Amino acid sequence: MLMTRRIVFVFLALVLALGGCQLDTGVKIIKMGHAQVVSHPVHQAMVFLGKRLEEKSGGKIKVKVYPNQQLGTERELLELLQIGSVGMTKVSAASLEAFSPEISVLGLPYLFRDDAHITQVLEGEIGKELLLSTEKYWLRGLCFYDAGKRSFYSKTKPIATPADLTGLKVRVQESKMAINMVRGMGGSPTPVSYGELYTALQQGIVDAAENNPPSFYNSRHYEVCKYYSIDEHTAIPDVVLVSTKVWSELSPEEQVWLQEAADESAVYQTKLWKEAVEEALREVQKAGVEISYPSKEPFLEKVAAVYGQVFQEQKQLEALVQRIQQTNK
Ligand code: GCU
Repeated sequence: MLMTRRIVFVFLALVLALGGCQLDTGVKIIKMGHAQVVSHPVHQAMVFLGKRLEEKSGGKIKVKVYPNQQLGTERELLELLQIGSVGMTKVSAASLEAFSPEISVLGLPYLFRDDAHITQVLEGEIGKELLLSTEKYWLRGLCFYDAGKRSFYSKTKPIATPADLTGLKVRVQESKMAINMVRGMGGSPTPVSYGELYTALQQGIVDAAENNPPSFYNSRHYEVCKYYSIDEHTAIPDVVLVSTKVWSELSPEEQVWLQEAADESAVYQTKLWKEAVEEALREVQKAGVEISYPSKEPFLEKVAAVYGQVFQEQKQLEALVQRIQQTNK
């Protein structure tokens, strides 16, 4: 099964040829792949990005967006960007961990004080550094998209305290930080790719997962998981990236257009996000999901041990966490 997937992936990489190709007409088409469905706000933001780039370039550059893991999982998409087979993507910052140890900091539980703090960090110096920290791996971060806060959902019971995670197989993203976080909270972390999660939940390969409301809703995981406990343990943003191969083939003027279009799409996405969160919570409730708001205290009590474990493995993150904590205090 895994082998077949790998072969399909390599085949795809070959047939996709170039992530940014120039047609005879002189029009450049940039392929952009991602893992979400088309009703998700991030997809709409990517389409907006393409529209703005086309307008700015007078129709000379277009972006073709491929949703639903059509071109691969987030991990595979990043690899395709590295070789220039796909031009752009949007992934969770958690998927970038293997390419940038610094970025993994964003997966620490309860890292931010509040929403204003998230904006100050991501739109400030630290955010810029993180976006460019993967450039040595041929991945250039253009902007962050809001991915809200992640909370637990389960098939069997509400997660009122970390003790409720005991014995539960909790799906995590393919990220060491997420594994440490769920283990530190008391659950059994099981990495599964996003596209395979619905079936994994249905078949009982995992009992629970965690995500933001729009993703919980748009993925239809709520059909299987009837308990959504809003503990908001992490606030991991999404990142829009361009292959440095495609980037370096753009003229300085085209690079400015692309950066501007990405920045404008981020503003648009933030607006869509707020509505999407409200809609998601309303719709899953209508579909019979029990939403609860557990006290954050017992979850916060687990944080020190999680940080301790992470700093033991990645000493360099300690200084970065301090800088984040001191941002605009
Ligand atoms: C969020 C994120 C996605 C990611 C998903 C996941 O929805 O926006 O990029 O794939 O989480 O849990 O894997």
